[in-house]
Amino acid sequence: MGDLSHLLRESWTVVEEQQEKLAGYFYARIFLSNPHLRDLFPVQMDAQRSRLLGAIVTAVQTLDDPERLDAYLRDLGRDHRKFEVTPEQYAVVGDALLESLRIFGGERWTPDFDQAWRDAYGLIAQKMIDAAKADDDPAYWIAEVLSHERRGRDIAVLTVLPGQPLEFRAGQYVSVECPAYRPRVWRVYSMANAPRRDRTLEFHVRALSSGWVSGALVRRVRAGDLLRLAAPMGSMTLDRRSTRDIVCVAGSTGLAPIKALLEELTRFNRTRWVHVFFGAGTREDLYDLPELRAIAAQHPWVSLVPACSRDASFDGEHGNVSEIVGRYGPWNDHDFYVAGSAGMVQATLRTLAALEVPPSRIRYDAFGQ
Ligand SMILES: Cc1cc2nc3c(=O)[nH]c(=O)nc-3n(C[C@H](O)[C@H](O)[C@H](O)COP(=O)(O)OP(=O)(O)OC[C@H]3O[C@@H](n4cnc5c(N)ncnc54)[C@H](O)[C@@H]3O)c2cc1C
Ligand code: HEM
Repeated sequence: MGDLSHLLRESWTVVEEQQEKLAGYFYARIFLSNPHLRDLFPVQMDAQRSRLLGAIVTAVQTLDDPERLDAYLRDLGRDHRKFEVTPEQYAVVGDALLESLRIFGGERWTPDFDQAWRDAYGLIAQKMIDAAKADDDPAYWIAEVLSHERRGRDIAVLTVLPGQPLEFRAGQYVSVECPAYRPRVWRVYSMANAPRRDRTLEFHVRALSSGWVSGALVRRVRAGDLLRLAAPMGSMTLDRRSTRDIVCVAGSTGLAPIKALLEELTRFNRTRWVHVFFGAGTREDLYDLPELRAIAAQHPWVSLVPACSRDASFDGEHGNVSEIVGRYGPWNDHDFYVAGSAGMVQATLRTLAALEVPPSRIRYDAFGQ
């Protein structure tokens, strides 16, 4: 696998600078040979916004971590059932990828590079196809929005009820589409609860400026609207065999999966201390603080540290939550769960690395590239 990974990385440097044009060619090639595939993709689509090519390139370059990649591809194969993708279509996409690489690689694209990408894509596609075939769940779930609660300017908490049972684990996420407002555009959101008997799911969504799906979920969706949800994904789940105490670090709506884990813990935990760091810009952005305080009041093993980075009068910690977690501790023997924007997660991982926390004890979800 080492040689293959090396070839894949080396070959990508040949085309990397032209990736925008390569993406344009890649999609044109797919849609010309299979015009009906165009219907799967967002109506307004440009190469930068489209995620498929980037995702394939990332997957191909992660081949040297087979265990993680296997679990990811299993989830992704099930998730892609929402597009009703067939094995033949995987071949169409693979051919378009190889042809684009060849064209943009020009004379520097060697037969070895070609073979490496063919092998890697084939391996990845096969794992996704196999996972999709083995899955008995629906291709997607239609869920009714039961309640939609605005928490400040940019954040909403939604409770939805899928028409059929949707099994998942606390800490996982699903791909969501709002057919009424943003047809064919899917984005992933973490469930903010552990599985419940009444089958409801909660989502915490922060609207990004010019965000297609988050904007619709926060500002347009109402109770009674229908959403489509795809198969659950993600491995930021609780390690129940571990006896270590737990540190959770959440930035803004990164609280969603952390709250799900906390809800799961409230059902069985008696022995592990759980430290929750919840950070945001302003007090208003700490949109779920009263509920978190109620959980901490009921369960003596929960300690809560809220923090604001841009609110001088806030009656709590001041600064970025990624740094604040480093001021507490010591964290010599803890499991860590981290979720939030990519910047917040990276900064937290740096803090933990400086504290010499072994990476194997850290699970995280970054909400952006
Ligand atoms: C595993 C995972 C779980 C997630 N869970 C949640 C969740 O529970 N709640 C939640 O609110 N979000 C969550 N997200 C983020 C979510 O999937 C979307 O990326 C986000 O809502 C933006 O989508 P959009 O269509 O509104 O914006 P887009 O139309 O995709 O982007 C709008 C603009 O914002 C930029 N942008 C995109 N994403 C980000 C970002 N995260 N930070 C800053 N700029 C960005 C884009 O480059 C673009 O310029 C999660 C992401 C991941 C990977
Ligand atoms: C090895 C093969 C593939 C991999 C690794 C892969 C992976 C991904 C990933 C990770 C995303 C982005 C999800 C997100 O960011 O929210 C995505 C999006 C998508 N994929 Fe795939 N995919 C593969 C094959 C296919 C095939 C064969 C089709 C169908 C022809 C397909 C159709 C799509 C569509 C329509 C999108 C949404 C694009 C967008 O919103 O711009 N994928 N894919």
